[in-house]
Amino acid sequence: MKIVIASAPATVANVNAGFDILGFSLSGLADQVSVRTIPEKIVRIKKIIGGDDLPLEPDKNTAAVPLLEMIRGERLSHGFEIEIKKGIPLASGLGGSAASAVAAVVAANQLLKKKLDNQKLFYYALLGEAVASGGLHGDNIAPALYGGITACLKDSEGKFQVVPVSCPVKLYCTIFHPQFALETKKARGVLKENILLKDYIQQSMHLTGLLLGLQSGDYDLIKLHTRDVIITPQRKFLMPFYDHFLPDLEKTNSLGFGISGAGPSLFSLSKTKKDAHQIQELLLVLSKKYKIPGEVYVAQVGLARPTITFVKVKA
Ligand code: HSE
Repeated sequence: MKIVIASAPATVANVNAGFDILGFSLSGLADQVSVRTIPEKIVRIKKIIGGDDLPLEPDKNTAAVPLLEMIRGERLSHGFEIEIKKGIPLASGLGGSAASAVAAVVAANQLLKKKLDNQKLFYYALLGEAVASGGLHGDNIAPALYGGITACLKDSEGKFQVVPVSCPVKLYCTIFHPQFALETKKARGVLKENILLKDYIQQSMHLTGLLLGLQSGDYDLIKLHTRDVIITPQRKFLMPFYDHFLPDLEKTNSLGFGISGAGPSLFSLSKTKKDAHQIQELLLVLSKKYKIPGEVYVAQVGLARPTITFVKVKA
């Protein structure tokens, strides 16, 4: 009997102005899913390690839903038994549900007679992410599956396309993960349906500036445009520490900071590892000062991608 174990990395979605579009992968934090085939055309969740609050019912679980859809969509003659090991904190804004969904499809794909391409894997993983977030957006799924920095685009017919954003310079990310959970559905629920034209124009400038800055490796452009005038102002009340941390972060060499995904984690970009570690020190001080317990990580932007391990066991 063959078991395939895949892991998929944590991700930072939005990157401020790229709400539901931009994302990048983070090394050091990942979810792992082990998959084996079973004769019944179902998905059975054997165990979830590190995620006591996660549902064991397959149709409610972000790793199982993509495989249920795969069984149906690919007309498979078998099902899957899975074991999920959560390495990414739950409801942290670090793309945990996307990582579980991606790890599940990447592992299951290795057990298929006819392998699926990344576009199909993306589609099935997206359906899993939707269970957690309540919306169809691929800004965490895309970098978790492809690695790097990605733009996840949707056309007017609802078809997704993932475009890699090349960046010729190194970027480092410091993450502050406060020890409280924030459900993506809740953070999406506070957003207004309409925006002002002036905000639309400013946000478009920020997204354009950030993308051009990344693609040309222009740190000044990145610094000017890693900003968000639409989503963060509406969400930051869910992260009361945000405004307390802001003045001190503005005095650092950060190239820009903001809410990671739907929050509550905070990300900050840096030119060098040294700057990223200085920001880490500062965030640890601020965490103590404002009594917001949390962990702080440093990782290089975009290096991580899924990994696969094959295990043979006696049936
Ligand atoms: N773009 C999403 C949001 C990311 O901010 O709601 C969370 O999964």
